[in-house]
Amino acid sequence: MTEFCGIELAHPIVNGSGTFDAIAARRAFGDALLERFPFAAFVSKTVTVAPRQGNPAPRLWELPGGMINSIGLPNKGLDGYLAEDLPKLAALPVPLIVNVMGFTREEVARLVEAFAARDEVAALELNVSCPNVKTGMVMGADPGETAALLDAVRQLTVKPVVVKLTPNCASPADVAEAAEAHGADAVSLINTLRGMAMHPRRHGQPWLGGGTGGVSGPAVRAVALVQVAEVAARVSVPVIGMGGVQTGRHAYDLREAGATLVAVGTESFRDPLAGSRIAAELAEIEGRNLASSGAISA
Ligand SMILES: Cc1cc2nc3c(=O)[nH]c(=O)nc-3n(C[C@H](O)[C@H](O)[C@H](O)COP(=O)(O)O)c2cc1C
Repeated sequence: MTEFCGIELAHPIVNGSGTFDAIAARRAFGDALLERFPFAAFVSKTVTVAPRQGNPAPRLWELPGGMINSIGLPNKGLDGYLAEDLPKLAALPVPLIVNVMGFTREEVARLVEAFAARDEVAALELNVSCPNVKTGMVMGADPGETAALLDAVRQLTVKPVVVKLTPNCASPADVAEAAEAHGADAVSLINTLRGMAMHPRRHGQPWLGGGTGGVSGPAVRAVALVQVAEVAARVSVPVIGMGGVQTGRHAYDLREAGATLVAVGTESFRDPLAGSRIAAELAEIEGRNLASSGAISA
């Protein structure tokens, strides 16, 4: 068992928000999904107050080591999520962590308040990779913005609040420190790195409909490792590490760097059961290490 902010989890592997559609998977695999659910907790895709269509196509560009996505956070909005998605996600056999994002602190507060009242929700994750339309600053790119956001929402819930840090800033460790000082119960990182691809035929135009996108997958693994190590060294709250994890060894490396939990994102597009495989590989490595350190005699 792994303990995270007072929540008991069967193992340390969860999903990265937006990379595993549990509702579609349940439709495709039926109850077999519930019997073999690949993650120890489920992190939902980002929910916003208003429904969003997402960005125009094309939304993906494949890279030699991952992809760039410009999905644009399509979702049903708070009311649609509460009415349609929450009952389905509450039926999963693992705790539910709801990821939310707002364009103002007031919007984030509204989302936090709404989910604070729902017993089905074990914890909240704040996606702060988004500009505050009132200040023009990305909420998670500046320690002062992050502190002000937590001051606005922290007292609205007793549930654990996880701040999902962006790698697209001067110092994620400074932001993590501010998040902890203003009441965050945990931090998670990394979100995607900004990137773009040129259109192969249309001169001077970007490929992605949204212009730019977020880079994920093996290409970002080394960035994730150094940022997780730096953040974990600066905060005492638990860290959820992610970025390019494909194997138990990669998850182990992030745990060695200081992560309590490890999230699998892009790899689940290739193999929807990657989470279970990685959890089993990690358990084997950690079991083996315990045995070789003498903590367990063979
Ligand atoms: C297609 C796609 C959609 C994503 N959607 C979200 C999202 O809705 N909210 C969020 O906080 N992160 C989102 N992410 C970021 C992932 O949760 C994760 O932080 C990132 O991809 C790094 O992990 P990975 O390299 O294992 O994919 C998305 C990533 C991808 C590839």
